[in-house]
Amino acid sequence: MIVLVTGTGTDVGKTVATAALAVHGQAAGRHVTVVKPVQTGEPPGHGDLRSVTALTGVTDTHCFASCPEPLAPVAAARRAGTVLPGLEDTARRILSLDRPGCLVLVEGAGGVLVDLGGFTLADLAVRLDAPVAVVTTTCLGSINYCDLTLEALDHRGVACLGVIGGSVPADPDTATATTLDALRSAHQAQWLGGIPAGVSTLDGAAFRAGALGWLDMPEL
Ligand SMILES: Nc1ncnc2c1ncn2[C@@H]1O[C@H](COP(=O)(O)OP(=O)(O)OP(=O)(O)O)[C@@H](O)[C@H]1O
Ligand SMILES: [Mg+2]
Repeated sequence: MIVLVTGTGTDVGKTVATAALAVHGQAAGRHVTVVKPVQTGEPPGHGDLRSVTALTGVTDTHCFASCPEPLAPVAAARRAGTVLPGLEDTARRILSLDRPGCLVLVEGAGGVLVDLGGFTLADLAVRLDAPVAVVTTTCLGSINYCDLTLEALDHRGVACLGVIGGSVPADPDTATATTLDALRSAHQAQWLGGIPAGVSTLDGAAFRAGALGWLDMPEL
């Protein structure tokens, strides 16, 4: 099974949410593979996959292109002289990782319409016929970003696996609390839960223990 993970933007908690989804996959008895097609802002071997491994113990991870500057993928690749794999190549490589009993999690870069090298995560979802989990911020303004993301997926016929609040504060201010309430009720059927703020620094055992309680996952 392949699940893509996108967000309402960059730094919204996609990687931590991907790690939480990986824990659910492990708990369901699946072999979990995590893919970051394009990593920017980190030297090879660093970045989101390393974070996922630290939080979950998942070591079957794959990055197809890595660019050191913290820029949008196409700009970072151009400046680094890196050729980004295209849609077909990316899809083929992901499909080759998908076996019965597997959960292949694919984390995009930034939001759903970011250019990953001639295609977007939404294009990849269409090509793979795979559902997408959406990680949203919960601060003021997030309802608009979340709805735009869901509308972009819906417009392309892409299934949404669910919506996840990224980094939800334990004691939110009024703006965040009311935004969170509105997100939960607007997307009741799709709301999977929120990742509590502060958990990205937990050790693997504590993260794995907590993650099963943060998200109410459908059968993975
Ligand atoms: N629940 C959380 N608790 C504490 N810190 C968090 C949490 N979620 C995210 N962070 C921190 O916020 C930053 C961005 O989070 P993360 O890397 O998960 O975002 P992202 O959406 O994956 O970003 P990118 O677009 O760069 O992949 C990181 O420094 C991460 O450690
Ligand atoms: Mg990330």
